[in-house]
Amino acid sequence: MTNALITAAEHLPAHLVAEMRSNHAGETGAVWIYKGILAVSQDEEVRSFAEHHLATEQQHLIFFDQWLSGRQKSLFIPLWRLAGFFLGVIAALGGRSWVYASIEAVETFVVSHYESQYAAVERFGDTELLATIQRFCNDEADHRDEAAGDVILPSRWLKAWCRLVSFGSEQAVGVARKL
Ligand SMILES: [Fe+2]
Ligand SMILES: [Fe+2]
Repeated sequence: MTNALITAAEHLPAHLVAEMRSNHAGETGAVWIYKGILAVSQDEEVRSFAEHHLATEQQHLIFFDQWLSGRQKSLFIPLWRLAGFFLGVIAALGGRSWVYASIEAVETFVVSHYESQYAAVERFGDTELLATIQRFCNDEADHRDEAAGDVILPSRWLKAWCRLVSFGSEQAVGVARKL
């Protein structure tokens, strides 16, 4: 992946730095969700699903990681790793349906998060950056749809868990935009 044509991160306006910081934090969390799943699950189907998604999330993370400077990144990276990891562990302990439903909840949030940035990036005028986050967003939509195809009648507990996952993702993004 080349960033050669994308605006140097130091020239981004503060409101876009905030958004990109939240993307970097989110992709960190995503990588660690799959690490958490893989640390626990013995289910071959779940493992291959997680390995396949992990590879994509790592590419997304590498982009933001290499592009943003150290001080543009969130102060709470260790926390986002930990939160992602435990989300993945809990989902995997619940079994297949918990993994798929959790990923569907996370990715539904991430798709709307990326989409919410399109207008500002377009206004800023960096078409390469816009294309990059649109491509990432399409990957997340694929992840969401792949997971959603496997969700079967969630229990009351699972529904409550998914609401917590969505709420937690929203709060984390709110914090990562600022710090
Ligand atoms: Fe991602
Ligand atoms: Fe994803």
